[in-house]
Amino acid sequence: MHTTIGIIGGGPAGLLLARLLHTSGIDCVVLESRDRAYVEQRQRAGVLEQATVDALRGSGAGKRLEREALVHEGIELRFDHRAHRLDLTGLTGGRRVWIYAQTEVVKDLIALQLDDGPPLHFEARAHAVEGADTDHPAIRFTHAGREQTLTCDYVVGCDGFHGVARSAVPPGAQRTYERSYPYSWFGILADVAPSCDELIYAHSPRGFALHSMRSSTVSRLYLQVPNGTDPQEWSDEQIWDELDTRFAVDGDWRLRRGPITAKAVLPLRSSVTEPMRHGRLFLAGDAAHIVPPTGAKGLNLAATDAIVLARAFAHLQDTGSTELLDAYSDTCLRRAWRAEHFSYFMTTTLHTGPTQTDFDTRLQLSQLDRIAASPHAAAELAENYTGLPLA
Ligand code: DHB
Repeated sequence: MHTTIGIIGGGPAGLLLARLLHTSGIDCVVLESRDRAYVEQRQRAGVLEQATVDALRGSGAGKRLEREALVHEGIELRFDHRAHRLDLTGLTGGRRVWIYAQTEVVKDLIALQLDDGPPLHFEARAHAVEGADTDHPAIRFTHAGREQTLTCDYVVGCDGFHGVARSAVPPGAQRTYERSYPYSWFGILADVAPSCDELIYAHSPRGFALHSMRSSTVSRLYLQVPNGTDPQEWSDEQIWDELDTRFAVDGDWRLRRGPITAKAVLPLRSSVTEPMRHGRLFLAGDAAHIVPPTGAKGLNLAATDAIVLARAFAHLQDTGSTELLDAYSDTCLRRAWRAEHFSYFMTTTLHTGPTQTDFDTRLQLSQLDRIAASPHAAAELAENYTGLPLA
């Protein structure tokens, strides 16, 4: 079996890349180790930047998004019992974000791909990438109980931090920079209308809380919790009470409660692997970088990798030049580090660390007050939040 681009991983990076290559007439095959139901249910963030939405539309996967996504032009910051709205659109000369869950993006891309090609194989577990530094790389994988080999012109690893692609790069040829955070997020989905039209990022003495949404009838909420928290330790009432306390502001605002339909705890960490290429093997999405969730950059970074790489392969096909492919790693790492810094800034400004002193809290409140008081400080946050323009 041979293809031009062999893609390992059927998450957002791999699926979007496959669609974009398909629209440019470049053939590819996607190998996903899990089954379709699993991939379609993986709960992740739900904030899309303009460039991500444009790419989904351009690849034909924007129809349902167009109908169902909620367009947001602001976010709210809560701290010190105050609520402050950031006018994202006004601060950025017109940029907005779309609220549309990653699970829905993945469902749309899968439906399109199964309908219209190129091939997407579920339960196809890649176990090795061979010959990455030759002109004939290959992916060894198991599918339907049989060991198979897919030879490729290029291989793209979109298979996450623990995937086979990262581990195929010799240790001396790459470096991974990492940071872990001393807290996790407890995320819930609830069948209740959102309590506010916009997202709320709340700093509180008891830790961070985030109010988000999936639709006009489903709320998505997060609480900062200690690492190692078991979601079953919390009753539904305790969750709502804690959210109430952390979102409390002067004036009358009420958090709507409803049946909780999903609970999960996720750790926060950062990682960047450099370079994002070894010979004919390219890394994209979580295989190359992970950001803590505060600010919702993960999916958008993965989408940008796919967009930049698809353009580079199209350029190679049209002109024979590898110039854009050769620039891929530097182009994407620059964006990745910006997103790492922004996510780190949002995380450390809004969360309460286990060894946090009153001095540290005063610094956080001063920073939040500065954002509320200064259009310059607010614009810096708004530009990063809505997504910096693609070069
Ligand atoms: C969501 C997740 C985030 O990390 C964020 O910053 C905003 C929203 C979400 O899941 O809706």
